[in-house]
Amino acid sequence: MLHCFRVPLAILLLALSITCSHAFRKYRHPEIKSAVFLSPKFVLEQGSVVNEYYYNIDFPRGHIALKGFNAEVVDEAGHPVPLHETYLHHWVLSRYYQRLNATNPEHDDHKHNQPDHILVRNSGICQNNSGGQYYGLGSETRGTNTDVPHPYGIEVGNSADIPAGYEEGWMLNVHAIDTRGVEDKLGCTECRCDLYNVTKDEYGRPLRPDYIGGLRCCYDHTQCRLREVSEGAKRNLYMRYTVKWIDWDEFIVPVKIYILDVTDTWKQLDNSTGQSSEHECHVEYDVESCSASGMADNRCTDSKRTSLVLPTGGYIVYGVAHQHSGGLGSALYGEDGRVLCSSIPTYGQGKEAGNEAGYIVGMSTCYPQPGSVKVNAGETLILESNYSSAQRHTGVMGLFYILVADQLPKPRLSLRVPIAKKVNKV
Ligand SMILES: *[C@@H]1O[C@H](CO)[C@@H](O)[C@H](O)[C@H]1NC(C)=O
Ligand SMILES: *[C@@H]1O[C@H](CO)[C@@H](O)[C@H](O)[C@H]1NC(C)=O
Ligand SMILES: *[C@@H]1O[C@H](CO)[C@@H](O)[C@H](O)[C@H]1NC(C)=O
Ligand SMILES: *[C@@H]1O[C@H](CO)[C@@H](O)[C@H](O)[C@H]1NC(C)=O
Ligand SMILES: *[C@@H]1O[C@H](CO)[C@@H](O)[C@H](O)[C@H]1NC(C)=O
Repeated sequence: MLHCFRVPLAILLLALSITCSHAFRKYRHPEIKSAVFLSPKFVLEQGSVVNEYYYNIDFPRGHIALKGFNAEVVDEAGHPVPLHETYLHHWVLSRYYQRLNATNPEHDDHKHNQPDHILVRNSGICQNNSGGQYYGLGSETRGTNTDVPHPYGIEVGNSADIPAGYEEGWMLNVHAIDTRGVEDKLGCTECRCDLYNVTKDEYGRPLRPDYIGGLRCCYDHTQCRLREVSEGAKRNLYMRYTVKWIDWDEFIVPVKIYILDVTDTWKQLDNSTGQSSEHECHVEYDVESCSASGMADNRCTDSKRTSLVLPTGGYIVYGVAHQHSGGLGSALYGEDGRVLCSSIPTYGQGKEAGNEAGYIVGMSTCYPQPGSVKVNAGETLILESNYSSAQRHTGVMGLFYILVADQLPKPRLSLRVPIAKKVNKV
């Protein structure tokens, strides 16, 4: 017997905006649940940096399909904090299996894939410790839609996939920079090494002389140069994250997550299909100022491209790019030059959280008509990332996140329209 309004075992249930119409009663329609959680507290003061890894965060359990994930920085009162105060460089959500009774790991890249903790990477295509996350965004997080369209979902928590003696866990990495009172806000957000007075990386290894900015200069506990030294202004902050999901059922079409990186140095061999060769993803790159090089085109656009092949073909059901300030847009092209997805930044125009002038506050997304955007097996894709080169930028990114379905849903499923339900409130 179907109940349109099942009572969840939840703390608080907000009113449903969609009521149950007669037409839906014939189908067992999925219910999109959403829950809001707070990360552990982190503390920032003027010019300081956190790069924290929170293991075993609160997360829905059981065999589910993820339908969306988003996050933002809030203060102790729960108010959203604007980017010109706390710049959210990035957050990353990763999945892992942890041996039962094992303690949460200390973050150390080299410990991944040790017997107690197995990182569950997405479907590719970067290798080693790069780009393996399930979700990740930065300053654009408040204005970027991450919803997975119906009837697709990211399958997790299937006990058949979890090795015996292990359980699934989720790790949230938060990298945030407090730019209140700093000398150069853009320079601090672009992690310029001179502003952090850093010559060695997090592990004490000297930086290459030509490394002038990027993540190796703004690691946890580094300090960006202030206009004048001032006391106090320490504050407690949290990531407030929202997870949307539905309980798994046979009608959900699973999607693969691919995170493509324009800095990937993979090169196609003449008769290679790409599967066996190495993908070295550098994640960050620099954009030189066109006036400095004197040879850029007059529109001063830096356009970076790379070629890639997915391990299997399929249908793109969602796409979005990740860029930093200065970004002008990114696109993924098929071998014949057709646009598979293009994702363009929105810049804020005001002061308030979600609309901060000079920052990317959202990225446009692609939701192709079902079946309309197909990647053929072995097809060579081109990823393109454009930045304004009117001034120099360090540590920028050109990532592209796509969800790909192996198969199209069966037609009758189009009648199954999900309804939305909140299961808690923070
Ligand atoms: C975990 O700890 C509990 C209680 O200490 C114990 O009963 C259980 O057998 C342990 N499980 C594993 C897999 O070691
Ligand atoms: C920068 O670092 C050097 C070496 O660690 C130190 O001697 C110097 O005082 C630092 N400068 C500032 C402005 O903090
Ligand atoms: C292409 O494949 C053939 C047969 O597998 C091999 O002999 C040849 O060296 C390959 N060429 C390149 C450029 O990899
Ligand atoms: C991945 O790590 C292995 C072992 O550390 C190393 O040999 C290999 O070169 C790395 N591959 C890439 C693409 O970075
Ligand atoms: C990137 O810049 C190039 C050259 O200016 C242009 O042809 C292309 O359309 C741009 N791509 C995007 C996604 O904006």
